[in-house]
Amino acid sequence: MSQPPTLLSAAGRALVDQFFPYNPSTVMAASQAARASHDGDLVAAAMTQAKLRTRAVERLGPQAQHLWFTADGLEQATRPTVAALRAAHFVASGAHRIADLGCGVGFDAIAFAQAGMSVIALERDETTAEYARANIAELGLSESVEVLNADAVSFDALAHGCDATFVDPARRLNGQRVKDPAKWSPSWSDALRLATATPMGCLKVAPGIDHALPPLGATTSWISDGGDLVEACVWLGATATDHVAREAIVLPSGQRANSHAIQPASVGPISDYLLEPDDAVIRAGLVQRVNDLVGGTLIDPAIAYVTCDSEPAAAPLYSRFAVVEHLPFSLKTVRHRLRDLQVGTLEVKKRGFAVDPEKFRHDMRLEKGATQSLTVLLTRIGSDPVAIIAKRLP
Ligand SMILES: C[S@@+](CC[C@H](N)C(=O)[O-])C[C@H]1O[C@@H](n2cnc3c(N)ncnc32)[C@H](O)[C@@H]1O
Repeated sequence: MSQPPTLLSAAGRALVDQFFPYNPSTVMAASQAARASHDGDLVAAAMTQAKLRTRAVERLGPQAQHLWFTADGLEQATRPTVAALRAAHFVASGAHRIADLGCGVGFDAIAFAQAGMSVIALERDETTAEYARANIAELGLSESVEVLNADAVSFDALAHGCDATFVDPARRLNGQRVKDPAKWSPSWSDALRLATATPMGCLKVAPGIDHALPPLGATTSWISDGGDLVEACVWLGATATDHVAREAIVLPSGQRANSHAIQPASVGPISDYLLEPDDAVIRAGLVQRVNDLVGGTLIDPAIAYVTCDSEPAAAPLYSRFAVVEHLPFSLKTVRHRLRDLQVGTLEVKKRGFAVDPEKFRHDMRLEKGATQSLTVLLTRIGSDPVAIIAKRLP
């Protein structure tokens, strides 16, 4: 798992630059040429690094093009947009010095420093800690961030002058997701103890977190970015928001919804418009907030589709559809209706309905040359399968 430390030497850096951006069709010839004058292991490590860095630029943006990654470090790195949002919240809550416990290759630590905090970052894996240090140096942040290659479980953040703690536990083992919080590293109970040791704390968790797990008084935020639900995090102490147990934050707009004084969701028949809440809103259990915003109801108590009878304003918290018609589901009937409607391009969505969207689209045998572009939302009301044919609104 560890890569040769010489990768950070001048020769290693030059080789990585030579192979970056990684191009599978030219890399073999380039590596053979490089092996004539360099150690084979170093050349192989540089190729791997160039490949990781190329993927990192796609996933994390141009800042990554001079940074160092392990495969796990890249997989687990926080998106810069989300890391910046978190760092800004710590600063707004009054944090000055933060302990980043389990810092990986450093994406949260970088955002904390860029937001103006001083950071002490701990990472138990030697290579990962070394890369975090290199990344911080690369971005000119070494004055603000100290990286220690150490176990975080017994770290005393208060004794190190910290007023805030962030823990992003490793939730992967041997390439597999670890669902049980007791098996994260640090474990949920250790992470909670560490993050509550300072006046301000935050734990990054999986978006599928059980709503009952965070302690009373915590605020859990579910965050989506560009339509992808990327993470949840649990704010503790002075970073939590009074009377808000759950909130959804939708990036890039930053629009929010929260659970303060929320009512149970109301239910009604399918009407003229259908709304699909953003995944952050759904996972935070805040679909009723979309009802509140548009004067709508759920189509079924267990299905996160909202319906309303006048055109809702566009908003980042949901996608909008104008209902063309809805019918009890049968492949044959839906196919006929789509033909009648001259549908040539079909978007398929499903909720509470077991279907392979690609296979369904294929089964619709859309007519070539048909010009209409519509969406079919396959769902259920009670136990009855329903197809809603609709036009997506911008
Ligand atoms: C999810 S990653 C952190 C990613 C980081 N927030 C970022 O955005 O780049 C978790 C890291 O915690 C480290 N880790 C796990 N248990 C640890 C422990 N007990 N002490 C220190 N580091 C630990 C892992 O090696 C891993 O690199």
